[in-house]
Amino acid sequence: MNLDRVLEDAKKVLEGNWRGNFTIPAATLYPHQWSWDAAFIAIGNSYFNTERAIRELEFLFDAQWQNGMVPHIVFNEKEKTYFPAADFYDITRSPYAPKHIGTSGMTQPAIHAIACYYIYENAKDKIKAKDFLSRIYPKLKHFHKFLLTDRDPEKSGLVTIFHPWESGLDDSPVWDEALAKIRIQHTLKFERLDVIAVGGAKNTIPSDDMYNKFIYMIELMKQYDYDQQKMYESFPFKIKGLVFSSILHIANKYMVRIADILGEDAQEIKEWISRTEANFYKYFHPDISQKLGSTEELLFCNYDLISRDWIRKRTISSLVPIYTGLVPKDQIDVFEKWIAHARSCGEGKCHTPALPSTDLDEPYFKHLTYWRGPIWVNVNWLIWLGLLKYGYNDAAERIRQGIFELVANHGFREYYDPFTGRGLGGKSFSWTAALVIDMIKDRGIGIPP
Ligand code: SER
Repeated sequence: MNLDRVLEDAKKVLEGNWRGNFTIPAATLYPHQWSWDAAFIAIGNSYFNTERAIRELEFLFDAQWQNGMVPHIVFNEKEKTYFPAADFYDITRSPYAPKHIGTSGMTQPAIHAIACYYIYENAKDKIKAKDFLSRIYPKLKHFHKFLLTDRDPEKSGLVTIFHPWESGLDDSPVWDEALAKIRIQHTLKFERLDVIAVGGAKNTIPSDDMYNKFIYMIELMKQYDYDQQKMYESFPFKIKGLVFSSILHIANKYMVRIADILGEDAQEIKEWISRTEANFYKYFHPDISQKLGSTEELLFCNYDLISRDWIRKRTISSLVPIYTGLVPKDQIDVFEKWIAHARSCGEGKCHTPALPSTDLDEPYFKHLTYWRGPIWVNVNWLIWLGLLKYGYNDAAERIRQGIFELVANHGFREYYDPFTGRGLGGKSFSWTAALVIDMIKDRGIGIPP
C-alpha cells in the first residue's frame, strides 16, 4: 500500500474542510465546528500545520461557557443545512452561555488536552507552542473541573452524561434501555436534515425513534435552562460515561505533563487522577472481585445512575478502557480475546481487522447503522494506542493496517460497513483523515503516560 499517497490524500481532506477558523467534520452533514472532532483534527494538523491546529482549538475554547463547559457544537450562523441549529438550543436561557456566538447546550469527550500536548510535541517553534499552552491551560483546567464537579458531585473522578450525544457514540445500543424509559410528553415538529445529507440512506443513521428522543431531550434541557445542578437532581438520563471517563483520565495525565512544561502546580489534577483510579472499577466493572473475567463475557460497562445498574451491552465502549492504562497487565489477555472475538465472530465475514462498534453476534448489531455496528476510526485509534501501551504490538498493527485498507480502498469516510468495507455517512471526513495521519506517522506521542 502506498502510504505516501494516503498521507497526501488525508492532508487534502483537512485542507478542503478548513473554514478559516475551524475545520468542519464533513461537508453537507456537519457544517459547523464539533468539539471532539476539533481535537482529533488538531492532532492531524499538528504534524504539518501548527498554526491551524492552534487556531482550531482556540476558536473552540472561545465559545467555552462561563461554568467551564465546552459545548459540543459551535455554530456557523450562515449555515442552514443542519438541525438542530443555534435557535433550537436557545442557550440564552443560561447565564453561563457565551453571548458572541451560538453553541449547543451540551458537551463531548475531553480529548483536547491530549491534542494540545501533540501540538507542543510536534511543533518546530517550541516558544510559540509553549505560549499557546500557557493560554489554553487555564481553559482546559476549567473544562476538566466542570466535568469533575458539576458532572461528578459524587467526586468519583468519572463523568456523568445527560445525553447520548455527549458520549460521542450517539445511537450505540448502550443507551437503548435508558432512552426507552424517557416518555416524550409532547411531539415536536422538525425535519431531519441528516436524512437529506446522506441521500436518503436512513438505514445508515439513527432511527426516527431514537432521533425523536435526542431532540426531545434537548427540549427538556431547555426547560431546566441548562442548569447543571437542577439537571443532576432530576434529569431522566444520567449515565456515568465509560468512554468519556476513560478519555478524561488520559487527558488529565497529559494536563500534568503540560503543567510540568509550564511550571504550574498540578496538585489538583493529580487529585482528580487519584479519584478516577480509586473508582474506575467500582463504577464500570460489575464484578465485585474487581477482576476482569477469565472468559470474554465481561469487560467494562457504562453505569446508569438512575436504574443503578450496569449496562451490559457488548460494544466497542467496553474495549476503550485499555487506553487508560488502569487495567493490570495480567488482565489484558481478556481484552485481546474479546478483540479477536469481535473480529472473527461471523467467521470469515469481516472485511478488515479494524473493530466494529458493536459485537457481531448480538441481536442489536446492525452493519450499516451509525454506532450500532459500523467501524469508526476514532475508537479504533484509542484501542490501537492502548494495545501499544501494553506491548500488544501485533494486535495493534492489525488494527492499524485494517484502517489503512479501509481509507485506501474506500475513502476517508465517517464510518464503514464491517462486512464489505463500504464507506458510509460523511464523505471526506476530517477525523478519519486526521487520525490516519497520526497512524502513518506512528510517533507514539499519544500512548498514554
Ligand atoms: N452527532 C450528532 C449529530 O449528528 C450530534 O452532534 O449532529
